[in-house]
Amino acid sequence: MTRHLIGLSGIDLATLQRILGLAELLRNNRHHGVDKLKGKLIAALFFEPSTRTRLSFELAARRLGADFISFPLESSSRVKGESLLDTISTVQAMGVDALIIRHSASGILHWLKDKMSIPLINAGDGAHEHPTQALLDLDTIKQFFPSVKSLQVAMIGDIKHSRVVRSSIHALKILGAHITLVGPPTLLPSEFCRLGVNVSWQLEEAVRKADVVYLLRIQHERQQKGLLPSLKSYTSQYGLTEQRLQWLKPGALVMHPGPVNVGVEITAAALRRLKKMPPEQARVSIEHQVASGVPVRAAVLDFLLGGDQR
Ligand code: CP
Repeated sequence: MTRHLIGLSGIDLATLQRILGLAELLRNNRHHGVDKLKGKLIAALFFEPSTRTRLSFELAARRLGADFISFPLESSSRVKGESLLDTISTVQAMGVDALIIRHSASGILHWLKDKMSIPLINAGDGAHEHPTQALLDLDTIKQFFPSVKSLQVAMIGDIKHSRVVRSSIHALKILGAHITLVGPPTLLPSEFCRLGVNVSWQLEEAVRKADVVYLLRIQHERQQKGLLPSLKSYTSQYGLTEQRLQWLKPGALVMHPGPVNVGVEITAAALRRLKKMPPEQARVSIEHQVASGVPVRAAVLDFLLGGDQR
């Protein structure tokens, strides 16, 4: 049966631990996995912009010895009206072994997977899931804390449009973390309560008890008019400001998936100060998260294509 990585909803503990274990091996030993995917061809089709995800998948594929092609959509036959299914079937027919897809339509990979005979990897679909981001975030957390179990994680911001939140909830819960979602009522749908997480509008209370403070990007591109009075009002109520840094628990870790809207989710002054704080006071992992992207995505490629079906 073809393996895919569409989302982390429904992932079991053994699979999660296997991917994270592989990532750790790849991170700690630069010779591990070299040439494991030699002869494989991996294609990336990004229908939305990306820096971190696309580049780190390319580096991950090369690290394992695979060939990697990235598809320039703006000069493809998509502009002549070729359908998504035609585009993807055409790429598959050229002998590609796996397809990495980012698309604005939530759930599109579930629809595509039944029509494909090669592994599909979700690089972010609308407001649905971004599984490799959640995996690399876990890999990062594991580098800062001895265990994920019982950690208090506050995820703050645009919950409504966040595919990162939807993937992270599943993975963090399996590993035993406690999650509180915080944001303005218009960006915090009440249905999240059903996922076994706390939902709050109270930033201070959530930050004070959090081991991990995860700032979510305000997604300008997915905002419907009227959900926020202004970005300034968002920052004044939910942004991490210099003054609010004093709410952080000693040793708390501040995370962000990037790209950071400096001045919105966190002020420039707060970010500068956070980076200079001693680790026992507070830590920030934005660059660690980027660095984790390569071994974690290599682990995913190895898991799906490496031939080890354990
Ligand atoms: N975090 C993330 O997905 O970043 P990119 O959009 O740059 O890939």
